Amino acid sequence: MLQMPDDRENGQMPAVVVNRADYVAPAYWIDTVDLCFDLDPAKTRVLNKMKLRRNPDVPTQPLKLDGEELNLARVLVNGQGTSFRMEGNRLVLDNLPDDFELEIFTTTCPAKNTKLMGLYVSNDSFFTQCEAEGFRRITYFLDRPDVMASYSVTLRADKALYPVLLSNGNLVEQGMLENGPNGPRHFAKWVDPHKKPSYLFALVAGQLVSREQRITSRAGKEHTLQVYVRPGDLDKTEHAMNSLMHSVAWDEARFGLPLDLERFMIVATSDFNMGAMENKGLNIFNTKYVLANQATATDTDYSNIESVVGHEYFHNWTGNRITCRDWFQLSLKEGLTVFRDQEFSQDLCGEASARAVKRIEDVRVLRTAQFPEDAGPMAHPVRPDSYIEISNFYTVTIYEKGAEVVRMMQTLVGREGFARGMTLYFERHDGKAVTCDDFAQAIADANPGSDLARLLPQFKRWYSQAGTPRVHAQGVHDAAARTYTLTLAQSCAPTAGQAVKEPFVIPVGLGLLGADGADLPLQLAHETAAAGTSRTVVLTQASETLTFVNVDAEPVPSILRGFTAPVVLEFDYTDAQLLHLLAHDSDPFNRWEAGQRLAVRRAIKSIAAVAYPVDAAPLDEAYVQAMRSVLHHPRLDAAFKELVLTLPSETYLAEQLDVVDPQRIHAVREAMRQQLAVALAGDWQQVYEANQGTGAYTPDPTSSGRRALAGMALSQLCLAAMTTGDTVWPGKTLQRFKDAGNMTDRFNALSALVSSGHPLAAQALAKFHAMFKDEALVIDKWFGLQAGAPDRSGNVLPAVRQLMKHPDFSLRNPNRARSVISTYCQANPAAFHRTDAAGYVFWSDRVMELDAINPQVAARLARALDRWSKLAEPYRSAAREAIARVAAKTDLSKDTLEVVTRALAD
Ligand code: TRP
Ligand code: ZN
Repeated sequence: MLQMPDDRENGQMPAVVVNRADYVAPAYWIDTVDLCFDLDPAKTRVLNKMKLRRNPDVPTQPLKLDGEELNLARVLVNGQGTSFRMEGNRLVLDNLPDDFELEIFTTTCPAKNTKLMGLYVSNDSFFTQCEAEGFRRITYFLDRPDVMASYSVTLRADKALYPVLLSNGNLVEQGMLENGPNGPRHFAKWVDPHKKPSYLFALVAGQLVSREQRITSRAGKEHTLQVYVRPGDLDKTEHAMNSLMHSVAWDEARFGLPLDLERFMIVATSDFNMGAMENKGLNIFNTKYVLANQATATDTDYSNIESVVGHEYFHNWTGNRITCRDWFQLSLKEGLTVFRDQEFSQDLCGEASARAVKRIEDVRVLRTAQFPEDAGPMAHPVRPDSYIEISNFYTVTIYEKGAEVVRMMQTLVGREGFARGMTLYFERHDGKAVTCDDFAQAIADANPGSDLARLLPQFKRWYSQAGTPRVHAQGVHDAAARTYTLTLAQSCAPTAGQAVKEPFVIPVGLGLLGADGADLPLQLAHETAAAGTSRTVVLTQASETLTFVNVDAEPVPSILRGFTAPVVLEFDYTDAQLLHLLAHDSDPFNRWEAGQRLAVRRAIKSIAAVAYPVDAAPLDEAYVQAMRSVLHHPRLDAAFKELVLTLPSETYLAEQLDVVDPQRIHAVREAMRQQLAVALAGDWQQVYEANQGTGAYTPDPTSSGRRALAGMALSQLCLAAMTTGDTVWPGKTLQRFKDAGNMTDRFNALSALVSSGHPLAAQALAKFHAMFKDEALVIDKWFGLQAGAPDRSGNVLPAVRQLMKHPDFSLRNPNRARSVISTYCQANPAAFHRTDAAGYVFWSDRVMELDAINPQVAARLARALDRWSKLAEPYRSAAREAIARVAAKTDLSKDTLEVVTRALAD
């Protein structure tokens, strides 16, 4: 452990750096934990009886138990009072026997727990959140994932206020207690049959109702699935339950992994820091990822619910049965489980085209969120080497890049080989706390002779080296020799603490298109015959060359098909080549990517142009015509068309530039949208008419794709109306908003009016609020839509300040705070990056204000200025000043301190 290398003059506690290299096994094992809770919002009493055993593998040491914000009343060793001391937050006991019982009695105040870590109250019910280090806020413990214990839990509470009492595992006993001051009290006792680390502990108590489903597994075992919500929300649980049933069936079918519990529960809470949590047998979810009916939830909500329910369920094996040795191994469970939930959602699609759409969406998240992270001050390897606050490392790198690393393993060993690897992983490590090395080794060992097995040490650089590799490709056609030579060179820019990078193992999906658009048969110089039209080559060197033979005319290479590796591919395509790929590539990912490259190229040219505000017409006729062809294509699905017609985001464009002027990027992208709206006005009308009626609502990929495309058409028609003066389409849009039979159509119509800045937006927004005033998740959408609205002469910031004064606004509820503040600061660049720096001042005020309430939420918001050093002046200096202002605050949490300190060091 080290001190932070800065000298803090503002009276803050020195922040402790935790290093991966310092791992030592615990001095004691905890075999059993018997917890008894007397639940009371003001003062909950926790009696913790543990059986401990010295770890013979490490030298004798005192027992140092983690604790945070606890009131300690009593410590007994083998039933006897004992001396103890405090070392900071730790409770230290010396001279212990080898085996002993430890009894600790503490109290906490859940009602005042605004951090939402540990035991807290939300809407008069009790919930817990223990990952990563929240259990120490409930009782003194060895709060680290390699200490796995058997838990039994007794919950005692007033029966009227807390009729439902839940914890992990099986309910073994329940009954009445003596009356308390508020009337009858009752208890429930739960025993978890599986050993688990403390971060998977959970309890829930309150007035909840459940949807229940009995299922029979493939092996013939019976299970009860339950989804618990507040009494009014039962009609919004069907989709979550269906998603859970699909998840159970999928894990059995694809990986042979059955549900290992008689009872599996999901509970929804509206106060939650993240998406959801995989507590053993008792998953706790943000309501956003549970509640849905067609009146309140969009297609995107439905698909997010499916993914998150799957994700948490799949953790039961990848995370819970096999867990992490230490938090540096977080991607062991998160990268793997994201990979699994991505595969699950793809497998549920059925149609190949819908699978491709899902893949494109996943890659879009990676490139707009993870690539910037990997290029900024918070860059870290998939397996980090150090941290100050582990909560800051629940990142897109750990999750999404981690999932890409697992996906590359599957690419290298094949789908069946990967399933074999998973089987070996469970044979070796079930019930244990292990490392990323153990996982990679199991996949490789199950596939001897594979590229992964051969290249494993080099492949593992994906775990140790941060930064996004670039693959620079060049192609030369030799007409006389009838060869096409591709040279692929890889490089990776330095990141903090890693100046020099060694070459990665990079699988590259590849094909060559002929003049007619068909794939050419592929034959490399050393091969005796052509084999296939698409293949994966595995790069291992800084530069390598591939020579394809029997190539008569210069082909168009389709490189990195399916996005087989998380890299930036550079190839100096001509416009004609990109148009050819967009029209013909058999790989849907690269077909979409060609359209994105065409748009990026045009945007960048316009952003760099001297003319300012900007060239009114960044798009040329060839691009517009290509988009028109896509819109009218007889075989492409609506969902795919919508993705192709969506211009690269402002964030993605910013990453392509060395110096970022957010106003200019916004102006150019808006000009492009405007141009597509006007030039394709007639096409958008046809597209709208052809896709607007999707019949009875179902959230399947085909009908949601049609709704997405119809929604885009309306947006474009309203935008065009702003310049043409058309009143028909805005009127139709308002009508559709009123008549819509589902939230997707209603919200798309509302967004079309808001994002075009049409005067009709105001009345639609007012009506929307009135219609859904009692639906918290819909009100979040209402706030978010306004905080994310396009900026017209600086109007958004004052609107955001007004929204914060709305009676429905609350800083304490993370979903609500994020809907206004994070949307404004992190999803509305042109409104946020103001020349008068008022956006940054607003940001620093909110970060500091939130930090005192909920450090995790504050630290995430703090990352809005991660990329400050790339900004053009005057933004750059003003942003730095705002960050410094936050960093100078006394009593900052270590969460926020770590983020702003790293930002300033950039
Ligand atoms: N393990 C959870 C998941 O990915 C993440 C999570 C939920 C979390 N709540 C948290 C992480 C609170 C840190 C803090 O499924
Ligand atoms: Zn997870």
